[in-house]
Amino acid sequence: QAQEKIPQVEELLAKMTLEEKIGQLNLLTPGGGVATGSVVSEDVENKIRAGNVGGVFGVSSPARVRQAQELAVKNSRLGIPLLIGADVIHGYKTTFPIPLGLSSSWDMELIKESAKIAAREATADGINWNFSPMVDITRDPRWGRFAETAGEDPFLGSAVAKAMVEGYQQDDLSKPHTMMATVKHMALYGAPEGGRDYNRVDMSRTKMFNEYLPPYKAAVDAGVGSVMTSFNDIDGVPATGNKWLLTDLLRERWGFDGFVVSDYTSVNEMIAHGMGDLQDVSALALKAGLDMDMVGEGFLTTLKKSVEEGKVSEEEITTAARRILEAKHKIGLLDDPYLYSDESRPEKDILTKENRDFARKAAAHSFVLFKKHNNALPLDKNAKIALIGPLANDKNNMLGTWAPTGDQQLSIPVLEGFKNVAPKADITYAKGANISDDSTFAKKVNVFGPRIQISEESPEEMLQEALRIANASDVVVAVVGEASEMSGEAASRTDITIPESQKKLIRELAATGKPVVLVLMSGRPLDISEEMELPVTILQVWHPGVEAGNAIADVIFGDYNPSGKLTATWPRSVGQIPIYYGMRNTGRPAPADRFEKFKSNYLDSPNTPLLPFGYGLSYTEFEYSNVKANKQTLKAGEEITLTATVKNTGNYNGDEVVQLYISDKVRSITPPLKELKGFEKIRLQKGESREVSFTITADDLKFYNSQLEYVFEPGEFEFFIGGSSDHKMTGSFELTE
Ligand code: IFM
Repeated sequence: QAQEKIPQVEELLAKMTLEEKIGQLNLLTPGGGVATGSVVSEDVENKIRAGNVGGVFGVSSPARVRQAQELAVKNSRLGIPLLIGADVIHGYKTTFPIPLGLSSSWDMELIKESAKIAAREATADGINWNFSPMVDITRDPRWGRFAETAGEDPFLGSAVAKAMVEGYQQDDLSKPHTMMATVKHMALYGAPEGGRDYNRVDMSRTKMFNEYLPPYKAAVDAGVGSVMTSFNDIDGVPATGNKWLLTDLLRERWGFDGFVVSDYTSVNEMIAHGMGDLQDVSALALKAGLDMDMVGEGFLTTLKKSVEEGKVSEEEITTAARRILEAKHKIGLLDDPYLYSDESRPEKDILTKENRDFARKAAAHSFVLFKKHNNALPLDKNAKIALIGPLANDKNNMLGTWAPTGDQQLSIPVLEGFKNVAPKADITYAKGANISDDSTFAKKVNVFGPRIQISEESPEEMLQEALRIANASDVVVAVVGEASEMSGEAASRTDITIPESQKKLIRELAATGKPVVLVLMSGRPLDISEEMELPVTILQVWHPGVEAGNAIADVIFGDYNPSGKLTATWPRSVGQIPIYYGMRNTGRPAPADRFEKFKSNYLDSPNTPLLPFGYGLSYTEFEYSNVKANKQTLKAGEEITLTATVKNTGNYNGDEVVQLYISDKVRSITPPLKELKGFEKIRLQKGESREVSFTITADDLKFYNSQLEYVFEPGEFEFFIGGSSDHKMTGSFELTE
């Protein structure tokens, strides 16, 4: 469907030369942000003056952004203002938990609010266009960018995508506190072979449509302004030059009317993919539907020649330039180039007390209690505590990966948080171990700063000091896990266990006989099979953001009862990957409780995960009963209501994420074992019970068939409502035409 043309944009286009149109398609960075490729842009100011730049990123503060806009507005022939981009991934200066953590809250209002706050802060600092949300589905914990995702599930991932877009953009993009969102990375970036970043992806169309594409579509449906392509290929064609993806699917099938930007030099990288020289790949990308070229300048340096040689048409360039100008119109820049250059705003809007309070709450709500042992938690605020571990008094790893706009030094270490929340507790601290003793590994992790610091003291001396304070305490809290850049971009791992230096510390602490609480930080699911067997309590806290220590203390001392649930399956070993709750069955399903020859199982491991999707404990207990449907037959066009009673039977007030899973018994393509189809986070006082209902229609039971038609098929469906994905189906209904 043709979109209505915007007169202001058309007037500009009518005046533009071919070179000026190509200039709008060029996105540069002078290198003020995070350079994630081998080049940063050169001579940016002169290129802006010459009208060769449509947008920049890595430039912030109202004054610098004003300067950049002035270069464009006062010096270039047509005075077209610039898009000012940034990677605002989990908060701007007020850093929230990593996205994997935020998703574990299962609280869409909270996630939306985090995006809204991020937009207010970032726009106060001059940013008008954000490279978020990242909505890539992933089932491979080896992949470092797991941390930036909402996990493995398309239904939950779609809800998160929508919440993020709505939070960033709200109802009017031209307001100075909203920013244009970019859904990334289109598409399938989370499924690289071997979990190695930037690697090939190969996937069937039905898997793509049913399991990997829904969150991108949800962002498009929510009105996202731009789409970023991914580095990988799809069906042998790199996403950045993939016409099926960027035009047939995105624009024609989904009706996307914003603009498409490449990832960092991903146009140029198509040369290494084997798609031709720079002129070839630039033409390929433009013709596929790419509108803006990030950093690589393939468009800038070759498109004119391609027009002259008849390889691309001027009309194709005009279409792309129109989309960029329309975006500038939407965010209000064509009316006021200095809309985001208000010097009074940073002071009012950034890192306010309210924002930090929100970050503390968001973090506490993201933590997942994995294991309880002897009711060690919550701790008494007067206890004698040995606080141990390489992440227990650390400012360099609290923000997590992809927090380039945050300031590590403003983060609250756990020790400080404990003192704030429990000033009467008697706390002693010892590092106990290095995050890793491997200096070669540490060097690779420390690219953005000293994330892994290897102490001068010997590992044995550190361990003995930790054991000494542990033995003199009532309780041990050990803060262990991954440094923030052990996950993130270009941070894939083949071994997803806690590094041996820390494993040793944990073993020895557990052997003291003292109550031990492991506070575990990571940017991905880890293999913690060994630690789950130890007599310890385990609280997973991801990388919690700027308020890390306070939020951890809030939960450890019981001011907030943990309520997070996993949004990704935790495997028993790397060998089980990929493992996810929505796997399709085989023709030879293995028995749940034992090995059977010639069935689909392993000789050396059960099929079940260590921790299932949707899992998470609380200080209290929740009991589910009376799970039922209000009728036995659901007719197309009607509704069915599925209900459960949830009771808080324990000793604390608490929040519970009530989850609905449905299983389609017979389908024209093999169905997943179960699919999440609804969830609601509720608060129950101790002793309180509540009925929770989900209303379902035939549309909610649709899937893409082998012709990629979105259909439902009549037949039997089973369901359950519970607090995790690993329950047996308890109810059923029939779907009829
Ligand atoms: O937005 C990012 C993307 O996620 C990875 N490559 C670099 C881009 C811009 O910084």
